[in-house]
Amino acid sequence: MKKVIILGGYGNFGKRIVEELLDLQAVTLYITGRNKKKADLLRDKLQNKANAVLKTTVIDINAPTFKEKLKSISPDIVIHTSGPFQGQMPHVPQACLDVGAHYIDLSDDRSFVCGIKQLNQMAKDKNLLLVSGASSVPGLSSAVIEHYKGQFKELESIDIAIAPGNKAERGEATIRGILSYIGRPFKVYSNSKWEELYGWMSPRKLDFGGVVGKRWLANIDVPDLALFPKHYAVKNTVTFQAGLELPFLHWFMVLMAYFTKIGLVKNWAPLTKPIVKVSNLFKSLGTDIGGMRVEINGKSHNKTNKKIHWTLFADKGVGPYIPTISAVIIARKLLAGELKDTGATPCIGLYQLDDFAPYAEKLQLDYKEETVEQLLNP
Ligand SMILES: NC(=O)c1ccc[n+]([C@@H]2O[C@H](COP(=O)([O-])OP(=O)(O)OC[C@H]3O[C@@H](n4cnc5c(N)ncnc54)[C@H](OP(=O)(O)O)[C@@H]3O)[C@@H](O)[C@H]2O)c1
Repeated sequence: MKKVIILGGYGNFGKRIVEELLDLQAVTLYITGRNKKKADLLRDKLQNKANAVLKTTVIDINAPTFKEKLKSISPDIVIHTSGPFQGQMPHVPQACLDVGAHYIDLSDDRSFVCGIKQLNQMAKDKNLLLVSGASSVPGLSSAVIEHYKGQFKELESIDIAIAPGNKAERGEATIRGILSYIGRPFKVYSNSKWEELYGWMSPRKLDFGGVVGKRWLANIDVPDLALFPKHYAVKNTVTFQAGLELPFLHWFMVLMAYFTKIGLVKNWAPLTKPIVKVSNLFKSLGTDIGGMRVEINGKSHNKTNKKIHWTLFADKGVGPYIPTISAVIIARKLLAGELKDTGATPCIGLYQLDDFAPYAEKLQLDYKEETVEQLLNP
């Protein structure tokens, strides 16, 4: 019997990870968090559909007894969704090393995801795999780039955009993480040099096409911005933006970011709960349709300028499953003994777009690929 602990197992993404792993045989899934009642409620709801054994227990990642608690369960894998990861120390992956468990997290924070490499040697020595960012970014975004990069001799730019539907369930940790950096500067690789952009600023409208159409976007600070320029030897620019579906909410957040930029509000994160409450009042005004687009520009092997667009469309409210798929794929591969890698790494190149395809089919996600090629000037 293998044991998998899901930290934050009844949260917005944690509960979807539990749901996606229910069919596993000879596995116990531990639904955990600081609230036993919420964990029990989820277990009771899912129990009938589960092959896996479902157990619940209280685990607070900040409690002094955290490591002892992990040790008492002795898990094979720990999946960490208890964000926000912004400002979090790597004590959870460190504890997993100490108790001999593989580790997977959903982190979207660049220093947390990049910092995981510090544990690389220790993880190798213990024959364990620690993966950070096993989510939309950089998990899925890098799987898309890995899929197409062979068609390029040289990458000029990568531009990634995510636009969830307004009706998508909002997890407090996700919002708190974003609010912690709106209006604050961070480094991006632009025009072949590192420069500063501000969180949730530089608004632009992008046409995703399909059911998503045009959406407003603004800067978000994600690990990809730090990792991709070097990892993919990008010559010019890497950009990443996200947006809210309702233009007035999107622009209100741009204004909030501006207030922070000019020093009027230091940090919006402490106001996360009321902000989530207010934004939920407008839920019915939007749709449950969201999308993700990755644009890769560069020179092909045939002496052409090449541009590839990969766009993912999600409707019928399935969008919030997308950030869970990378973690689910890696957990399943580890349990099946198909992933033999050891060490500590950001989630880049650990699975293929082909591994994503069955989940996309199950969720009825639609995706399209467009390629534009132009001969280079002689
Ligand atoms: N990399 C990406 O592409 C990507 C995409 C989307 C989301 N994310 C990240 O995923 C994380 C989870 O998001 P979410 O929307 O699921 O958030 P959420 O709904 O707020 O869930 C967080 C869960 O963690 C638990 N938790 C909070 N503090 C804890 C603690 N000290 N010890 C143990 N459990 C604790 C919460 O329950 P209790 O408060 O009851 O303990 C809750 O179950 C966020 O940090 C977000 O940034 C990453």
